[in-house]
Amino acid sequence: MKSESQVIVRPARNVRGTVSIPGDKSISHRYAMLAGIADGPSRLENYSTGADCASTLGCMRALGVKWERKDGADNVIEVLGSGLSLAAPSGALDCGNSGSTIRMLSGIVAGQKFTTEMAGDESLSRRPMERVITPLTAMGANIASQNGRPPLRIAGTNLKAVHYRMPVASAQVKTCLLFAGLLAEGETWIEEPLRTRDHGEVALRAFGAELQRKGNEVRIRGGQRLRGIEARVPGDLSSAAFFLCAAALFPGSQLTITNLLMNPTRARLLDILVQIGLRISVTQLEEIHGELVGTLQIEGGGLKGAAIAGADTAALIDEIPVLAAIAPYTEQGIEFRDAKELRVKESDRIASIAANLRAMGAEVEEHQDGLKIPGGQSLHGTEIESFDDHRIAMAFSIAALRAQGETLIRGSECAAISYPAFFTALESLVEH
Ligand code: S3P
Repeated sequence: MKSESQVIVRPARNVRGTVSIPGDKSISHRYAMLAGIADGPSRLENYSTGADCASTLGCMRALGVKWERKDGADNVIEVLGSGLSLAAPSGALDCGNSGSTIRMLSGIVAGQKFTTEMAGDESLSRRPMERVITPLTAMGANIASQNGRPPLRIAGTNLKAVHYRMPVASAQVKTCLLFAGLLAEGETWIEEPLRTRDHGEVALRAFGAELQRKGNEVRIRGGQRLRGIEARVPGDLSSAAFFLCAAALFPGSQLTITNLLMNPTRARLLDILVQIGLRISVTQLEEIHGELVGTLQIEGGGLKGAAIAGADTAALIDEIPVLAAIAPYTEQGIEFRDAKELRVKESDRIASIAANLRAMGAEVEEHQDGLKIPGGQSLHGTEIESFDDHRIAMAFSIAALRAQGETLIRGSECAAISYPAFFTALESLVEH
């Protein structure tokens, strides 16, 4: 039995203060993988402190990549790249809870001269992998799975470029195929149904690769060598989302978030929160290795409602749990549609959100592809399940700030998957 911890969240009056957020999870994974297959050393500052990105580092080490933590810090990493050819691991790679690790790294190991087994925890073992198995198989890899789920056994080969139209909008799949394309013979074309986060493309360019993008199509020529970089990973906007939504709950909130990722393919949340009534201004905007970074000044305002569907849903996929958690407190409520991907995340997030909102006394309509959450509701504190899903644990600690009475979050330790210091940071920002 694994040990389970819990936290108690008390209602708040306000959110005030300044916070710097740990490095973005999506970018950290990509930098660690690309630094591992680059020529020469890379230095990565503000690398994500989350367990998921540690899983990626563990896998890279098992594939022969040398890296170490530097400056006595848990978020500074120096990696010595192995070049495009990695070493055969001595056992199965442990991807932990991380869908990003198993999916994106599949693209790299599929182009190696050895067989790699990749496995993970119980939640990861339920997640769909055919979305990477199908295109990698078309490129020549031989992949065995458990009915399309992990563990995966990938027999690496000399990959052949493909022209692939992705049926699911997924940046993990796109990145997997770009990585495989880098190792393949010829030019790989990938077409995505909707524009998803482009950190894979931006990171490949930062490491020196050339890519072409036209509309929703991106192309990469195989055999390009990468060179190591020195980078500071921008703060994770999906982690900042919890504090942004907390600020939205109180008209008197005043919050400053420094060094935050502002990549337009990730920042749709800011538009939605402004629409809802938050006032946000951005200062000190700069570009680091192709990623926009800025300081955000946030002031609470109104709490109007929103309707989120289509491309917005894909752009906001990781922020939906926390938007749903504040939805009952909005004036008109929030409706989420086209979100069936949420059912195959770390938990079935549609079901987890509905169960927890109902436990707090809210009315919710659950659909196969989304949720309709009426506004103008009062919630009460209760016992909340994390469902071993980091974003659910953190989202409901935000709902708890406006509830009547205390809320106990069971299994709160799972926040460490993306943000180990989350509850301490939250406590430092709320006024009771
Ligand atoms: C991610 C893409 C999204 C997101 C995940 C991180 C990425 O997943 O939910 O947290 O870094 O590319 P999908 O690719 O499954 O949409």
